[in-house]
Formats: sequence, structure tokens, C-alpha cells
Amino acid sequence: MRSAKDYIIFPLDVSSLNEAKQYVQLLSGHVGMFKVGLELFIRTGPEIITFIKDNGADIFLDLKLHDIPATVLRAMRGIADLNVKFATVHCGESETMLRSAVEGSGGRVGVLGVTVLTSVSGDDIKHSGFNEVYVSDMSRLVMKRARMAKDAGVAGIVCSGLEVKMIKENFGSEFITVTPGIRPAEGMGKDDQQRVVTPGQAVKNGADYLVIGRPIRDAKDPKAAARKISEEIENIA
Ligand code: C5P
Repeated sequence: MRSAKDYIIFPLDVSSLNEAKQYVQLLSGHVGMFKVGLELFIRTGPEIITFIKDNGADIFLDLKLHDIPATVLRAMRGIADLNVKFATVHCGESETMLRSAVEGSGGRVGVLGVTVLTSVSGDDIKHSGFNEVYVSDMSRLVMKRARMAKDAGVAGIVCSGLEVKMIKENFGSEFITVTPGIRPAEGMGKDDQQRVVTPGQAVKNGADYLVIGRPIRDAKDPKAAARKISEEIENIA
């Protein structure tokens, strides 16, 4: 059975193998998965992946692929060989590319779509030539891209905890939602994340996984912080 800690994905937002290894050793058994992004993967390559696996945790390889379909297909094949649980691809403009990502995964890795980066503003959308309808309401763009991802056979998407309900209602409970921007109630408003929800709210809304970085990393006792979050999830799930 799935336990509360399995909801938690800890992002290894560090740039050295040593630092990453320390977090993996500290938090293995207290979180379900580790997220490896571009910064760390460029520094360490697959070595960090092997290390995480040896410590018994799953891996979310967040490389956000975006290229011509043939390249994405081959890159995703390589990722599938790494034996990670999830990998990301941008669902910006081409359903064919998304289909290639799914084909490349060969069912061996869950492909997750990135709809609209949280760093992108209405102004950015406008400057890059989008229709006014998406400039005034970016959630329409999120939904349009999520639809494209779903139609291409992608396993799920990365989205805010506030969007989970809408995504599940439109695309079904099997469509996986991974949500960053999680803050325990007492940590609200302390950093740059704007559209935040608590771990309990996110799970209540139907989130399958929560990416939680700073509330764990910056705590005096990261293990205790992860445990406390698990307890909160347990009371909901
Ligand atoms: O420290 P914090 O909990 O804000 O970390 C959230 C993690 O999720 C970071 O690795 C960040 O890059 C990532 N992320 C995000 N918002 C997205 C997608 C990914 O914060 N829309």
C-alpha cells in the first residue's frame, strides 16, 4: 500500500554530487522520490541516478525535453534505460513531439507534461504571439496543453495544487498530477512561490505527488520536517 511519504518528491536543487548524495542519504526512507533537474544532471550525469536507486528511492528526472520528435524519441529511450519513474517534456507546441516522447518511453518511464512554466507571465505570452484569450486567462492555456498531453498518451502533468481539481475533473483521476508550490501552513508567504497550497489541501484536491523543496531543506531538522508533512498527508489520505 502507498504510504504518506510516497506522496513527497524532494527536489535535489544543488549543483554538486556530494551535496546531492548527502540529501539522498539524509532523506531516503522519509520521502518517496527525488527530483533531479537539469542543473544537477549536467554536473553529475547518471551517477546521481544510480546513487538514488541504491538508496531505495524513486527518481523524477526533470529535464523538460523540447526538440524535434525524432530527437525527443531517442532522448526518451535513453532516459527509459536509466530506469527512472518519471521524466518531463514540454507540452508547448507539438502533439507529434509528445507522441514521440511516449513512444520513446516504451512504457518504462512515466512521461509528464509541463504545461506553462510558473515563471511565465501574461506579458510573456503576449510577446510570444499568443491569442489575447490566453493572455487574459492563462489557465485556458494550461488546459489546452493538458488536453494535448492527454491526447498524446502522456501519463500526467506538472501543475499547481490549485489546478489539480480542474485537471482531474476534465481528464480523469488516472491522469497523474504532480504539484510544486507546496507550503506547510506556518511557512506560507515566506519565499518566492506565489500560488501555494498546503500539503493537506493539495492531497485533498487530488494531487498524486507533491514536490516539496525548501520547507524540508531549510528546516532545522529536514527529516523531522518531512515526517511532519507525511503526518499531515496521512490525516487526509
Ligand atoms: O523549494 P520549492 O518547494 O519551491 O521547490 C519546488 C521545486 O519544484 C523546484 O525544484 C522548482 O524548480 C520546481 N518547480 C516549481 N514550479 C513549477 C515546476 C517546477 O516550483 N511549475
